[in-house]
Amino acid sequence: MAFNILIGRNESDKKKFGEEGTILLGKSYVKMGREVSLSNPIYLDVIKAHVVFVVGKRGGGKSYSASVIAEGIVNLPDHIAKNISVILFDTMGVFWTMKYPNEKDADLLEQWGLKPKGLEKIQVFTPIGQFESAKDKGIPTDKSFAIQASELTGEDWRLAFELPGSHPVSILIEKTLGDFAEQKRDNYNLDDIIDACKADVSFTQEVRNEAVNRFKTAKRWGLFSDQGTKIDVLVKGGSVSVLDLSAYATSEGGWGVKALVVGLICKRVFIERMISRQLEEVEAIKTGYSYFKLEEETDNIERKPLVWFIADEAHELLPAEGKTAATDALVAILREGRQPGLSLLLITQQPGKIHSDVLTQSDIVLAHRITAKRDVDALNSMMQSYLGDTLTASLNILPSESGAAIILDDNSERLYPIRVRPKFSWHGGEAPTAIKYKKSDNLGI
Ligand SMILES: Nc1ncnc2c1ncn2[C@@H]1O[C@H](COP(=O)(O)OP(=O)(O)O)[C@@H](O)[C@H]1O
Ligand SMILES: [Mg+2]
Repeated sequence: MAFNILIGRNESDKKKFGEEGTILLGKSYVKMGREVSLSNPIYLDVIKAHVVFVVGKRGGGKSYSASVIAEGIVNLPDHIAKNISVILFDTMGVFWTMKYPNEKDADLLEQWGLKPKGLEKIQVFTPIGQFESAKDKGIPTDKSFAIQASELTGEDWRLAFELPGSHPVSILIEKTLGDFAEQKRDNYNLDDIIDACKADVSFTQEVRNEAVNRFKTAKRWGLFSDQGTKIDVLVKGGSVSVLDLSAYATSEGGWGVKALVVGLICKRVFIERMISRQLEEVEAIKTGYSYFKLEEETDNIERKPLVWFIADEAHELLPAEGKTAATDALVAILREGRQPGLSLLLITQQPGKIHSDVLTQSDIVLAHRITAKRDVDALNSMMQSYLGDTLTASLNILPSESGAAIILDDNSERLYPIRVRPKFSWHGGEAPTAIKYKKSDNLGI
């Protein structure tokens, strides 16, 4: 019988947990003569913090693989799943479809011994100002989410507005927030900022007007309210929270806003997990427990779940050059996420354009087909430390079917050709075709 390959789990954890807390990601390919066939099941550890980097050209299966991981996590046995929360930043508005069964791939699923199944433990969040219109469009959104304007620093604002630090408007914003801090005002809203900008005669009328216009634009993002959404509402153990940011896909400066949301949420979760981690540590010292074992002894302690963040088009959020409102928070998770138990799964078509920390901090890379030289070079540079073979050679032996990829595991310093398993939930975001899909599946939407 084919043994299971465990990705992302070191030897001591293998001894401690066996295969518990891993999810089926796919099967490895083996080549026998000219035939390539599927062989050993490949499982991914999800109970430790990881940085997973998913790359590949358009249509290669990147978003699909990311949602395989998300659905795998919430389908773990309850006693494990309840300790992990998945936050999916949905910049294209395609992941809400995971609520529905994947009838499209029913035949393929059957070959894998799986059945189409919609996710039950999924919540779709839409920015408060777009909640009603999303519902009208038939998107099955569950809750609105909002941010308090007073949570943003001056730098958050200017990055969200995509302004350089030296811009007079950036300086006015910095000064306004500085004044609020001095006055110990910590619960202000957008109107308060607008009023203060208008009233600051130390800046020219022109600068004040421009600042006011920026904040009026920010009002139209439909993101701010006096009651921001509590992190506990977003971070739910055993559940996927999809944050639908697709409304900003077409708006001017859309990436500035998307990065702002990603940055703020990641930052808040990071801080909360840090605090929670310290409490867990104290408790662990008292009872000698480990996170996923000895539940009985520790059930009465309220713990914050570990979090897996998933972000598509990550080179826009965390570019190689320049800074966005998400950069600091994402880099903090890349570098220090292990301690507070935060995992990051970043997806991009252009690994050559992503922040170099992603390349250095990823411990698992899932590479679907990539072709551009710059991107192949970027990935090759990550692997040189331990792999003799070049990535290009490995990528070339992959069959051209959907979901074929190379997985690199830094924990074991191994590389495997893999076919990612089919999803049991519906996959959105497929490129539209001129010919309508022949099965008229009733999605019940
Ligand atoms: N593991 C897989 N098994 C079966 N089909 C897949 C798999 N991965 C991708 N596909 C197919 O390929 C299409 C494109 O995948 P997707 O993840 O949306 O591409 P992208 O890399 O652009 O995000 C999907 O709609 C699906 O039909
Ligand atoms: Mg995609």
